[in-house]
Amino acid sequence: MMKTEDGMGLELRGLKKILGGRVIIDDLDLSVSKGEMVSLLGPSGCGKTTTLRMIAGFLAVDSGQILVAGKDVTALGPDKRPSAMVFQNYALWPHMTAAKNVGFPLKIKGLSKIEIKEKVEAALELVNLLHHKDSRPGQISGGEQQRVALARALVQEPDILLLDEPLSNLDAKLREKVREDIRELQRRLGITTVIVTHDQEEALSISDRVAVMNSGRIEQFSSPQDLYRQPQTEYVATFIGSLNRFEGDLQNGQILGGTDVIGIRPEDLTISREPMEGSHSGIVELVIPRGHFFEVVVRRKDGIFRAFASENIPTFGEHVHVKIKKALRYQNGKLVA
Ligand SMILES: Nc1ncnc2c1ncn2[C@@H]1O[C@H](COP(=O)(O)OP(=O)(O)OP(=O)(O)O)[C@@H](O)[C@H]1O
Ligand SMILES: [Mg+2]
Repeated sequence: MMKTEDGMGLELRGLKKILGGRVIIDDLDLSVSKGEMVSLLGPSGCGKTTTLRMIAGFLAVDSGQILVAGKDVTALGPDKRPSAMVFQNYALWPHMTAAKNVGFPLKIKGLSKIEIKEKVEAALELVNLLHHKDSRPGQISGGEQQRVALARALVQEPDILLLDEPLSNLDAKLREKVREDIRELQRRLGITTVIVTHDQEEALSISDRVAVMNSGRIEQFSSPQDLYRQPQTEYVATFIGSLNRFEGDLQNGQILGGTDVIGIRPEDLTISREPMEGSHSGIVELVIPRGHFFEVVVRRKDGIFRAFASENIPTFGEHVHVKIKKALRYQNGKLVA
């Protein structure tokens, strides 16, 4: 396996893929720094797995380049690339023990039995599963199988770790734990990682940066914070988090007829029992506890506002006033500064 130099991670340049006569990936660029964890986030069918398989070398590109540490790997097969992939369904061999599963890629490479044993035990240790080295996949839990799959990728000492929806088979509680484990391990090993998910909470909580995909293209690639606070397109604004969306122009807090799209995050609305300058009046229709805050739905004469409130929570049926503190404005789908 080729090793990378410091500073440089993974670079995708103008990737294109046509499948079944359709353009699936269209001129896709992405730069991942060394040691960075990046999510590919997008709805089903947007091309996340296709992108990952091209990076891993399981699928040839139709055009474009894939560079690892500045070296072009586009023409190399998967076994010649410095990357390892964890598949969505784990793809473990049911008849093999955890140790045999993890050691398999090393056996293929022709390492000695002694070397394989050492590396396999180290990898199982990393994912806290050494005590299950002689168990078969059917004898361990879903979360443990996931960790065996992760160990099988890590044992190859890849420069690029590729994870395709690795947590989708786990229940909510376990997902959170395993994703924290993955993040901790990724940081500790400093391994450049691309993780595919369609779960925005997962993407936002685990990654340094998130690439939001839409029909084979990247809509926005930025930090979780920027994605939420400064969504560059209307698509990203509606896809990430919750958004009050109106068509029209915003003037002195009022929404007037117009062709722009106004997006307001629920926390950018202030609810009060007293009227405020430029506020809208309405009736509380729903109050939903959301942990440390409440989501309040206010019905106005022409639509609803969805607001977050953490104090002075109004009650159902109360007459309240809602003021817009901050709004995002989109023209033809693009953010207007
Ligand atoms: N071999 C193929 N032939 C034709 N079309 C394909 C082929 N493989 C994938 N596609 C299509 O390419 C598109 C992207 O598929 P891909 O698996 O990359 O999506 P995804 O973003 O990973 O979705 P999901 O979240 O459902 O896993 C889909 O519309 C899919 O039907
Ligand atoms: Mg997929």
